[in-house]
Amino acid sequence: MSEEPNTNYQKVTDRIVEELQAIVGERYVIYGDADALEAYSHDETGGKQWAHPPEVAVRPETTEQIAAIMKLANRERIPVTPRGAGSGLSGGAVPIYGGIVLLSDRMNRILEIDTDNLMITVEPAVITSEINEQVEPLRLFYAGYPMSMETCSIGGNVAENAGGGKAIKYGVTSRYVLGLEVVTPTGDIVQLGGKLIKDVTGYNLVQLMVGSEGTLGIFTKITLKLLPLPQAQVDLLCLFSSPEQAIGAVTTIITACGIIPTAVEFIDRQSFEASCKYLNETLPYQDAGAMLLITLDGHSPDQVQNDYEAVGEKCMELGATEVYVADNPTTSERIWRIRRNIPEAYNLITQRQSGEDIVVPPASIPQLVAKIRRLAEKYDVLIPTYGHAGDGNLHSRLVSKPEWSDEYWNELLPRLQTELYQLTAQLGGRISGEHGIGHKRKKYLAHVVSQEYITMLRAIKRALDPNNILNPGKIFDMEPSSTESIT
Ligand code: LAC
Ligand code: ZN
Repeated sequence: MSEEPNTNYQKVTDRIVEELQAIVGERYVIYGDADALEAYSHDETGGKQWAHPPEVAVRPETTEQIAAIMKLANRERIPVTPRGAGSGLSGGAVPIYGGIVLLSDRMNRILEIDTDNLMITVEPAVITSEINEQVEPLRLFYAGYPMSMETCSIGGNVAENAGGGKAIKYGVTSRYVLGLEVVTPTGDIVQLGGKLIKDVTGYNLVQLMVGSEGTLGIFTKITLKLLPLPQAQVDLLCLFSSPEQAIGAVTTIITACGIIPTAVEFIDRQSFEASCKYLNETLPYQDAGAMLLITLDGHSPDQVQNDYEAVGEKCMELGATEVYVADNPTTSERIWRIRRNIPEAYNLITQRQSGEDIVVPPASIPQLVAKIRRLAEKYDVLIPTYGHAGDGNLHSRLVSKPEWSDEYWNELLPRLQTELYQLTAQLGGRISGEHGIGHKRKKYLAHVVSQEYITMLRAIKRALDPNNILNPGKIFDMEPSSTESIT
């Protein structure tokens, strides 16, 4: 990657490796094997410029081992980057200064399902969908629904404060995190929160940790709130002739029907087509210019039927040309699979693209889509867009034309990003709703937050991680850089 380390970190030596081996066991240290370490040099952000290999990877099994590693890293001034499943989209798990990558894969146990308190305690490497598989027979569910739930891990979800497809009704990961066992950047072990619905005993450090992108602590135990499993669910696939019509319907559906849907996803034609092609799927979408995928769930089939009829009728009133009803798990999964695979489909098309994650107040979504269209016209570029319209979070993709040179694209992309972020900020929005800042977006942070805000972020980081050991260079740099100004 282009960015060279500008810090005073020490290199990992054979002596350090021996110490790591003494902590976790020889077979759980990966060192001197460039191919094996390459696997930990990137997440799913795409683009070689975001990648950087670690010098060593370690696979601890206990909280105490992680604490010992952090103490060693502080003493020797070696950066440590925690890594979950590596499915992140802003480079959070990328060790940009080399050093140690801390793999969580051995900490993958479900520790307790507490059916009296409706809570579950897990280790960080548990795959998010596995939580639901475990609690479903108990008629419970975990309401987080990141699109990568079959591959991402809960530790990563907490670190990034993952959102996903059901945030409009159920909120994001933070709403469900009640307790954390954390190894601090300096190697202490602390218990934050617990099995408490209410707790104002001091600062809310649980929520400070959630979304801290691996920069403030390493989570070793996570207590999550569960909900009773909805007994009925229906998905509507609503086709509209134009993106404007589809997106224009979103807020009206919610306000006019008096129903908070479980999900309202916007998918433009290009994104739908790309995913169908990737999956070899033939779902009919005729000449739709865009579509809404609306999910409704509830505790009785009758209630859900009333809701979906009202929402379906409203969509037709608002110009939908067709509303397909998926009222069984097989058809539902067929549609959601298309939605979930859009990023994968695009990733195969070209490396020269940037998946974005802008977020605005939900009612500003139609204006956002109109502004994105104008931006695309201005630069004669395609900006396919899909995402969580119901909660205001869209994934526009800035995609190079095949005939453009690398030089042209590399020069154009930052301009497109800058303008995209500025128009988002004009609507009261932010540059990331759920993927995080990582190192991918850090130079743009100052576009949407004040210097005072960044100063507070730095003060918190300095207080908890005085040697800047834990995941350095993410979200912001400790020293202001020349690009950290509003352009
Ligand atoms: C999605 C991921 C990219 O919504 O957040 O598909
Ligand atoms: Zn998303």
